[in-house]
Amino acid sequence: MGPGPSDVHPRVLRAMSTPLVGHLDPSFIEIMNEVQELMRYTFRTDNQWTIPVSGTGSASMEAAIGNLVEPGDTMLVPTNGYFGGRMQSMAERAGGNVVHVDAPWGEPLDPVDVQEAFDEHQPDVFGFVHAETSTGVKQPNVPELTSIAHDHDALVVADTVTSLGGVELEVDDWGIDVAYSGPQKCLSCPPGASPLTLNDRAMDKVLSREEDPRSWYLDLSLLEGYWGEDRAYHHTAPITNVYAIREALRLVAEEGIENRWNRHLRVASALKAGVEAMGLGLNPEDEFWLPSLNAVLVPDGVDAGEAIDYVLEHYDLEIAGGLGALAGDIFRIGCMGYSANPKNVSFLMTALGEALEAQGADVDVDAGFAAMREQLQE
Ligand SMILES: Cc1ncc(COP(=O)(O)O)c(C=O)c1O
Repeated sequence: MGPGPSDVHPRVLRAMSTPLVGHLDPSFIEIMNEVQELMRYTFRTDNQWTIPVSGTGSASMEAAIGNLVEPGDTMLVPTNGYFGGRMQSMAERAGGNVVHVDAPWGEPLDPVDVQEAFDEHQPDVFGFVHAETSTGVKQPNVPELTSIAHDHDALVVADTVTSLGGVELEVDDWGIDVAYSGPQKCLSCPPGASPLTLNDRAMDKVLSREEDPRSWYLDLSLLEGYWGEDRAYHHTAPITNVYAIREALRLVAEEGIENRWNRHLRVASALKAGVEAMGLGLNPEDEFWLPSLNAVLVPDGVDAGEAIDYVLEHYDLEIAGGLGALAGDIFRIGCMGYSANPKNVSFLMTALGEALEAQGADVDVDAGFAAMREQLQE
């Protein structure tokens, strides 16, 4: 129950023991088609350019940024969490100039600030993090942000690593041009093949670049040869990871994407109600709370690292601490994919309650359990 990887569904693990076929085998090409179609369903998009990028979430992130940002382009990135910083590094390596829209760690971007940054800098590309794993903040007002960008003729890249398959995400309806994600969070799949989708407008920019992108491996104009109509060799696909993501995405479709969002909300609401009744606060305001990653404030006098070690040692349960500006101040408790179930929340409450009591914290574990159960019964 940390910030990912989440527990992998047994069906996904089983799919990973399927014998390998070649990456151009007709049966594998059918699997590729199925993965792309299921990925469109999960992203809520009709984008033709929807593929699993070989590598972890950072690979799909770099495929997005490294192809969209050309030398001399300006990219607007957020400062309200760890992953905006990674966007900046990638945009700079692509030869872009980076400008910022500021918000404190633990808060979302304000559309007024985004508007001001656009008026001042006229960026070509705007990146934002829909679900910031470092702070537990969900960015609201996404359609407002994308329409500001489009009024300025810019393209929007959304980091959906911790939202895809877990919290509401509407790539097409919200006007997102490019979204990248990772499989190891709300899709409950091992890292290795990472979802990416681009609309035609974004792909037009990619295909009309003056200079090749700096990465050969992640050059989408070349990857298009394999994942597009030709199905021609570019690099050997990670076959086992493609089996895995197909099975993970089939599980999404079987559950139904909206039901899945609702399950995450219901289970994480119980977790939230439980820790709050125990006497702990959550870092983000309720309006920006991210069900898939709960940033719980560490109570005064408690050493976060010790509590995390206690939970791991005594219960074999993984949770994480804060990063950067929030190091030592929060616990990061994931509620993602297959791990988002009542049994795990109850287990977490027992383990965390005991770890905090062991340090003499003033927590009411019984009240926490009562609130959690009440919430689960709703
Ligand atoms: C919001 C966000 N973006 C990007 C990444 C990078 O993904 P990966 O670590 O799979 O490369 C992560 C990983 O945790 C993330 O949480």
